[in-house]
This record gives sequence, C-alpha cells and structure tokens, in this order.
Amino acid sequence: MKCLRPAALAAVVLAAVALPAAAQNANPQLLAFTCQGCHGTAGKSPGSIPALQGKTAEQILALLKDFRDGGRAATVMGRIAKGYTDAEIEAIAKEVASWK
Ligand code: HEC
Repeated sequence: MKCLRPAALAAVVLAAVALPAAAQNANPQLLAFTCQGCHGTAGKSPGSIPALQGKTAEQILALLKDFRDGGRAATVMGRIAKGYTDAEIEAIAKEVASWK
C-alpha cells in the first residue's frame, strides 16, 4: 500500500488544480442549481430561508459579493459565496434572476 500513496496524492493534487478551471466553464444553470436546495425550487423558499424569487440580477450580485466579503452577516452564505469567482457570481446572479 505504501507505494500507492504518491500516486493517490498526485490524483488529489491534480483534482484540486483541475476543479477551478472546470468551474470557470461551468454552465450557469449548474452553478445555480445547488442554491435551490436551500432557497427552494426557482428560489421560491418554502421555509424561513429568504426567497430568491423576484430579486434582480443586480440585487443578487450585490448580496453575494457582500456575503463573500464579510460585509453582510450570515450563517452559511458567507462560506458559500467565498467558493465562487467574480465571473461565477455574475453568472449565478443572472441565472437566479431569470428563474420564473
Ligand atoms: C445551505 C443552504 C443554502 C444554500 C445552498 C444557499 N443559500 Fe443563500 N441563504 C441561505 C441562508 C440561511 C440565508 C440567510 C443568510 C445566512 O444566514 O447565511 C441565505 C441568504 C441568501 C441571500 C440573501 C437574501 C436576502 O433577501 O437577504 C441571497 C441573495 C442568497 N442566499 C443567494 C444564494 C445563492 C445564489 C445560492 C447558490 C449559489 C445560495 N444562496 C445557496 C442558505 C443557503
């Protein structure tokens, strides 16, 4: 088993390097898909998490950047927003604003 470790490590490092590159080309629909797990299908929140439905792309963009930069208090959104580049946040904001 010991001799497999460098190969396993290389695979992990390669995956870590490859992921951000892949994310840059990710489909906005895929990027925004996960938001619905908490914010409800098409952003129509079924519970206490704020709805995303009805917000403009500009509003969502500003909120996400605020969460990411720590300017807006959050339980989870700060950590979520930190996972995206500016380009990804812009793509997500446009996609979420287009939900009907
Ligand atoms: C794990 C659950 C979860 C996921 C996944 C999630 N959110 Fe949130 N979101 C929250 C919670 C909870 C809040 C309230 C602020 C806080 O406590 O973090 C929030 C707040 C927001 C707000 C502010 C809404 C308002 O009216 O104040 C926006 C915009 C937002 N989320 C966008 C998104 C987007 C876009 C995604 C997908 C990239 C996403 N969220 C994914 C849980 C989630």
